[in-house]
Amino acid sequence: SIPDFVKIVEVGPRDGLQNEKAIIPTAVKVELIKLLVSSGLSVVEATSFVSPKWVPQLADAKDVLAAIKDVEGACFPVLTPNLKGFEAAVAAGAKEVAVFPAASESFSKANLNCGIEDNLARCRDIALASRDLSIPVRGYISCVVGCPLEGYVAPAKVAYMAKSLYEMGCSEISLGDTIGVGTPGSVIPMLEAVLDVVPVDKLAVHFHDTYGQALSNILISLQMGISTVDSSVSGLGGCPYAKGATGNVATEDVVYMLNGIGVKTNVDLGKLMLAGDFISKHLGRSSASKAATALSKV
Ligand code: HMG
Ligand code: MG
Repeated sequence: SIPDFVKIVEVGPRDGLQNEKAIIPTAVKVELIKLLVSSGLSVVEATSFVSPKWVPQLADAKDVLAAIKDVEGACFPVLTPNLKGFEAAVAAGAKEVAVFPAASESFSKANLNCGIEDNLARCRDIALASRDLSIPVRGYISCVVGCPLEGYVAPAKVAYMAKSLYEMGCSEISLGDTIGVGTPGSVIPMLEAVLDVVPVDKLAVHFHDTYGQALSNILISLQMGISTVDSSVSGLGGCPYAKGATGNVATEDVVYMLNGIGVKTNVDLGKLMLAGDFISKHLGRSSASKAATALSKV
């Protein structure tokens, strides 16, 4: 059976925008976040405290957090790769953070300049520091069904990463198909392996839609009891260190499907589309959401 309610974690302002070449003004990012909150989304990942040399688009992380500090009704987690990022995030007012190890050694090095075990040690440092401040830490695992550099990733590797993050105290573990190659054929065995070691209510799924498989993968994840889903308004996104990977599954498409199967989200699809229109107009491209595109014509 499927959960009655799904929590959507909107990652558009972070995962969606991090790969954009032209620098987007801080004011546009802030307006996008406000529109997303107005649609009813309760979690909007706002930005990353990463190296501006690695991700220039998010170099204004501090300014984004300052501008949304009085926005109510949602929490605004931010990515932190190391203690330096964690400390900067806390100083800027972050109340929730996320660490993001990879299930593949090569991707870990490409994305973080650091191997899996060394990176897990950094995550542990952040988990420890956050405990004293009562700051929840989300743990992302990238490349859960495939790596742009290594190809196949074994479910046992993902389970090992999930268990490590769970044991260090992560409040939620998000399983990322970074390059969108998964199908239910690979996602089910991966989820089965993770469910053996982490309680289902701690898990989230994070699908990119590169191969058009995201909604199928979300549906089977819900059938396996997962009730937290990451998505990005207008299907924005792509990882700068995963060539060819397209955006996350579009939030509008997820909400449309969940409405159709009677699962509550508290998100107003019409208002969400306003956020999608706003950012698509700014970027000068059409939305990658099929539902938003279709609904805007009827
Ligand atoms: P490094 O070059 O090894 O860092 O990068 P370092 O420790 O050697 O330091 C080099 C310089 O960076 C120093 O400055 C540091 O101070 C600075 P300098 O002395 O040269 O002026 N530095 C920092 N500056 C700001 N914030 C920091 C920070 N740390 C060091 N936190 C590092 C290592 C981890 C920093 C780098 O590799 C990095 O920033 N990586 C982040 C990459 C990233 O954001 N990728 C995209 C997000 S992951 C993703 O999208 C996948 C996900 O969506 C899930 C999925 O789809 O599956 C989550
Ligand atoms: Mg992602």
